[in-house]
This record gives sequence, C-alpha cells and structure tokens, in this order.
Amino acid sequence: MTSAQLAFRRPPGPDEPVTLGIDPETLTTLQNLQREYGDMVSLQQPNGRLAYFVNDASEVRRILVRRHSRYHKGPGFERVKMLLGNGLIVSDGDVWRRSRTMIQPAFSRQNVHRLMTVMVECCDRRAVRWADLAARNEPLNITSETCDFALELILISIFGNDYERRILTQGENPFAFLSRDSKRDLGVVLKVRKLRDLLLSIIAERRAGHDEQVFDFLSMYLAATDKQGNAFSDAELLDELMTLIVAGFETSANTLNWVWYLIARHPDVEATLIEEAQRVLPNVSAVSDAALSAMTYTQQTLEEVLRLYPPVWLFTRRSHVEDELDDYDVPPGTDIYLSPFVLHRTERYWPDPERFDPQRFATDSASRKEQPYFPFSLGPRRCLGEYFSFLEMKVHLGLLLPRFRLRLLDEAEPHLELGINLRSAEDIFMQPEVR
Ligand code: HEM
Repeated sequence: MTSAQLAFRRPPGPDEPVTLGIDPETLTTLQNLQREYGDMVSLQQPNGRLAYFVNDASEVRRILVRRHSRYHKGPGFERVKMLLGNGLIVSDGDVWRRSRTMIQPAFSRQNVHRLMTVMVECCDRRAVRWADLAARNEPLNITSETCDFALELILISIFGNDYERRILTQGENPFAFLSRDSKRDLGVVLKVRKLRDLLLSIIAERRAGHDEQVFDFLSMYLAATDKQGNAFSDAELLDELMTLIVAGFETSANTLNWVWYLIARHPDVEATLIEEAQRVLPNVSAVSDAALSAMTYTQQTLEEVLRLYPPVWLFTRRSHVEDELDDYDVPPGTDIYLSPFVLHRTERYWPDPERFDPQRFATDSASRKEQPYFPFSLGPRRCLGEYFSFLEMKVHLGLLLPRFRLRLLDEAEPHLELGINLRSAEDIFMQPEVR
C-alpha cells in the first residue's frame, strides 16, 4: 500500500483481500464482515480495488439519495450490460438522466391504472390453468407460474396487441427463456441478440403505423422526446425495451413466488388476506385504483415479503469523485456494496428479523423512518416500476387467493439462489384446490 493510500481515513476491515461477487458465498462473506467489523467495513479486492461495505441506514441513504451524483453503478453491472446494452438500469450520468426524463412520464399513476385490465386478463389466464390442474388433482409449479404471469403481463403492457399478433406467432413465446434461465450467461445473451430483429421489425411497423389509438409502453416510449425534441433512436429503444422486459418481470415474479410460499406457511395471514380481498374485490369488475389502494393488509404483506426476500439483494456503486461517509474518506474509484437483504434482517433495526410479520408495516412510514428499507432502492434511481408492481401483485393476490388454496407439497424452506436476483434455488410445487 502506498503512503497516499495510508493517509486517508478508512473504516476497519480485514487485511487480506476479499472476493465479492454476485453469488451465494458473497452473502455469507458480507454477514461475517458485518458481524466482525460493524456498520462500515473496508476491504481490498483481489483486483486491487478498494471496497466499502456499508451497513448504516443513514449512510445508505446518503449514498443513494443526497450524494447519488458522486456514484455510478458498480461491479456486476458489466454482466447486466451484456444483456441490456445502455438501457436505464445500467446507464449513468447524462445518458441516464436523458432516458429517465423521457421514460418517467410513462409510469405515471394514471398510465399504470390504464394497464389494470391487462393485469386482470393475465390473472384470468392463470385461473383457467389452475382450475384445470385442480380438477385433475395435479400440482402446479408456482415458481414458473409466477414467472409466466409476470412475463406475460410485462410483454402485453409493452406491446399491446402485437404480443399476440407478432410475438406469440413465433411459436413458443420467444422471451420464455428469460424466465427459465437465471444465469444470464453468454447463451442468454446470444438468444437476446436474436430477439433484436423481431423487436426492430415491431418498432419499424409502429413507426410507420397509422393506429393512433394504441396505448402501451412501446407507444409511450416512441412518443417520448428529450429537451431538444429528439426521440429515441432504434438502438436506444431496443436497449430500453429489453431493460423494461427484464426489470419488469423477474423481480415481481420472484416476489410473488415467495408470497405464495409464505402465505401457505402462515394460515392466519392467509385468512386476513382472503377476508380483505373478498371485501374489497367481490368480483372482477370491482378492480379499480381506489379498491386496490384500500387493500392495506395486502400491501403490508407484500412489503414484509420484500423485506425478507428483496429480489435485488445486493446493490453496487462506484464513486467517481471523492466523498465522505461516516467520517471516513471515500476516494474516487471505491466500490460500494449495499445489501437490502443484510440490512432488512439486522436485529438492531428490525427486532426478531427472521419472523414473517406483516404487522410491522401497519404503522405509517414516517414512524419507520429510521429503519433501513430499500427493496426498490432510494433516491433518483429508485425503481420506476414500484407502483406498477404493487398494483400487479395486489390484483394477482386479490383475484387468485380467494379462488384457490395452494398447499405446499414440501414444507422444507427453499434454499436461496443469490444471482443478480434473489430466487428460490428450487422451484416450489403446490397443490391447487378450488375454494
Ligand atoms: C417487486 C418488484 C420490483 C423490485 C423489488 C424492483 C427493484 C428495483 C431496484 C432495486 C432498482 C434499482 C437498482 C439499482 O439502483 O441498482 C430498480 C430499478 C428499475 N426498475 Fe424495478 N423493481 C421491481 C419491479 C419493476 C417493474 C414491474 C418495472 C417495470 C414495469 C421496473 C422497472 C425498473 C426500471 C426501469 C429501473 C431503472 C431505474 C433507473 O435506473 O432510473 N421494476 N428496480
């Protein structure tokens, strides 16, 4: 280490280099580091780069909110970049700012409300399948069911009628591999490249189109312009569409997978959810934004599931200018690791953290201000799909739970698959019964 490196104030941490990646070993490493060194840990990575692991709620807020402009996306995003090009999730600086400003209006509450009918339609398709399996006394794989539900929903939300007309006519849904293959390896990247031609031809058709009445994300993305009045180029649009597909289905699908698992293990929670759904959504035509915002217990349950199983379990950032955190110096080029999974289960902030208890979220969010909770991140880069995903999950539960009882076929707790997203390592199988 050089004398310049020794001069700055650096948090405690191990002397020997530590490898951090997006993998299961990393979670154990992070938990051990937190136990041994506390809220701020510094470590040297095998590539020589300095890294800080931050476990203090207010320092996390500082990085993501107040000082967000000092940080770019960090290690691990290279892998995502192979898939999503320079779309919103991976871009930084001016490119990100321009895209975010162009895309954000598409996610207004009013626009998301217009997609509620698609959410209902996707639930109906599941209900037909589940009723059939129940009649034949066959189990369902809830892990793939929630993936198919969320993937179909995001594809129809983006492409509208073109989903049936252009995408399903390709044989099996050509995007289905995204929900089956979590590795995001080169094979997936190659398959994604092949999809680009299909997307480009849909884009070209839309650009030349005459149908003014279309309402879906693609139409909104096509109409979006920057401050200079320029629209997205085809290449930019491709990256943004892939970003929306990947960001928009896997996280919700994984959350719903854990929701069904936890509900089956907590009959008291299940009973309260059913009571609320029957009261607020007595039939499909009752689905409205007002009804969905009245589903407060469902909201709390979803928030508690996201506390225990935040799909994005590890965030990374890299400082590009100097900063200071908790009286320590952050030189430019420092990798930052933040883990909602670790902080959401830290006893000091969340008493009895392993216990599943939706009541934790019964109080208003102001009284929970000190508790670190960031499944959707915080600050200007906060998830754009948060409102969409709560609506989608509430419609899903509100319509399907009162109709179907799903019984776990194996009571064992699934292992965690800690990839870019947190998933259950084994698919979860359940026996559906019509109530
Ligand atoms: C339970 C569901 C979801 C969770 C937990 C979730 C979580 C997140 C997180 C943590 C980030 C920030 C990652 C980072 O900064 O490193 C993010 C970004 C994003 N999410 Fe979500 N997400 C969910 C659903 C969705 C849905 C349904 C959509 C689209 C319909 C969506 C679209 C996006 C986009 C576009 C970004 C990039 C925002 C930006 O960088 O400006 N997400 N999400």
